[in-house]
Amino acid sequence: MASPLETEIARRRTFAIISHPDAGKTTLTEKLLLYGGAIHLAGSVKARRAKRYATSDWMAIEKERGISVTSSVLQFVYRDHAINLLDTPGHQDFSEDTYRTLSAADSAVMLIDAAKGVEPQTIKLFKVCRLRGIPIFTFANKLDRYGRTPLELMDELEKVLGIRAYPMNWPIGSGPEFRGVYDRKTKAVHAFTAEGRHGEAEVTERVVPLDSPQIIEVLSDTELERLKEEIELLDIGGDDFSLDKVRDGQLSPMFFGSAMTNFGVRPFLDEFLHLAPPPAGRQSSVGFVEPTREAFTGFVFKIQANMDPAHRDRVAFLRVVSGRYVKGMTAHHVRLGKDVRLAKPTQFMASERTAIEDAWPGDVIGLFDPGLFRIGDTLVDGPAFDFECVPRFSPEHFAIVRTKDPLKRKQMEKGLEQLAEEGTIQIFQQMQMGMKDPIVGVVGQLQFEVLQYRIEHEYGANILVDKLGYSHARWVVGKGFEPKTFDWEGNRQTVQDRDGLPLVLFRDEWAMQHALEKHPDLTFQAHAPQLKASSVIIGPS
Ligand code: G4P
Repeated sequence: MASPLETEIARRRTFAIISHPDAGKTTLTEKLLLYGGAIHLAGSVKARRAKRYATSDWMAIEKERGISVTSSVLQFVYRDHAINLLDTPGHQDFSEDTYRTLSAADSAVMLIDAAKGVEPQTIKLFKVCRLRGIPIFTFANKLDRYGRTPLELMDELEKVLGIRAYPMNWPIGSGPEFRGVYDRKTKAVHAFTAEGRHGEAEVTERVVPLDSPQIIEVLSDTELERLKEEIELLDIGGDDFSLDKVRDGQLSPMFFGSAMTNFGVRPFLDEFLHLAPPPAGRQSSVGFVEPTREAFTGFVFKIQANMDPAHRDRVAFLRVVSGRYVKGMTAHHVRLGKDVRLAKPTQFMASERTAIEDAWPGDVIGLFDPGLFRIGDTLVDGPAFDFECVPRFSPEHFAIVRTKDPLKRKQMEKGLEQLAEEGTIQIFQQMQMGMKDPIVGVVGQLQFEVLQYRIEHEYGANILVDKLGYSHARWVVGKGFEPKTFDWEGNRQTVQDRDGLPLVLFRDEWAMQHALEKHPDLTFQAHAPQLKASSVIIGPS
């Protein structure tokens, strides 16, 4: 008989939705919550301006609906599955945060706008999922509008992303002629009815077997004939379904639907839960840690401050890797080398923060953080080890940051420190005498706007951001590095990160190439030196 730990692992699914802005991620999230019973009526999300500055798309849902869903994970139960949907900020400039979140996901749903196909942000995020080898499900959205044909979309997935798709269902028409989808497994047509423009309530899809006489009530002769031809072609020419290939991230189960009108959401959710893997373990400094290991372990993948402006709180999000978390337990904080009580944990249901009693592998708990945690921290119940690093991305835009009012310097520093711990920015210290103003590095330009906005609104300091002409940051490893002599008239500058590690900012590829040639003994790397995990497997203890 399965132990409680095994049972809980088996019923969990932890995933993230990846997409290009506007593909419909917020809409689909809302619809999944609607079908999961976590909310009872979906509303349209119109707060698009608010979204520009929101670190979470859910903040837009929150603004529109007046409920608190601002968080990093939504948990809901659907047909006895405990589902953890991780938030991935939609705007491309928040990509670093999104990449990190993906390190806590066991699978990803790639949402594409059927009219636009694979877009740049989708490509970037897809690559991260590929690197992790997690299963990727595709949902082609907005079938209620004219779009590319399903074959064109499949072809694009293969050409642009290098992944083959297995259509789980097949759309019949699109735009005003969208009639529904054909389910390949059950050989039945799910007929489309647009009930309300925004699909506020669940829809009941009429399901008609393809070979039943009633099929003529939902499809015309021409539509039926065309569908039969397409299915035949697909059955002959398409890939065979292979769960192994899906689990390896080599084959993407593809679904067609319309999140706005709710069409195809339930069949997608049902099949997704069936095919997506339960929580996986994680690589560590002592080998692979299986989720079935009885001792509790977890890692912090995200930190967010000031989620509730009234409380000025800071929450560290921890993914449970193995064992069971029990309310109020004490765990060993490996980086600090001390035991900490995991106080005030919260889990985020759709409409409120709920204090939780326990959590299992795959779950995410929000820990009240008085400044103890950093992204990547490992917590263990038992002997210390480190989980593999949460990826950091090399910033590409740099600026010197200073306060307009010198008396507000402390507030600015506090704000910068906070945003650095959240991973929104990276702070570097200049190394020349008298250069006290910090240099801030970001992955996307918009983060400078977010920085200014948040430091002003959350810390009360107006700041000036003087952009610098550098575009690459490289950590320097090797003997004989002389920071003092390395600076070179605007082409490169030596700085230190928050851990005191030296790195060089370069103006362009050419300046970097020049340094590489002149200093063959030094290595210039895009990421801070990291821990390497060995490949021994830790089984259940
Ligand atoms: P995002 O989080 O990925 O950025 O996208 P979001 O859900 O905000 O959706 C972007 C736009 O696409 C919204 O329109 C939304 O209504 C629309 N949309 C989402 N799913 C579908 C669908 O299945 N079919 C159609 N036709 N549209 C869809 P908007 O005009 O910006 O806002 P709204 O006024 O419709 O709320």
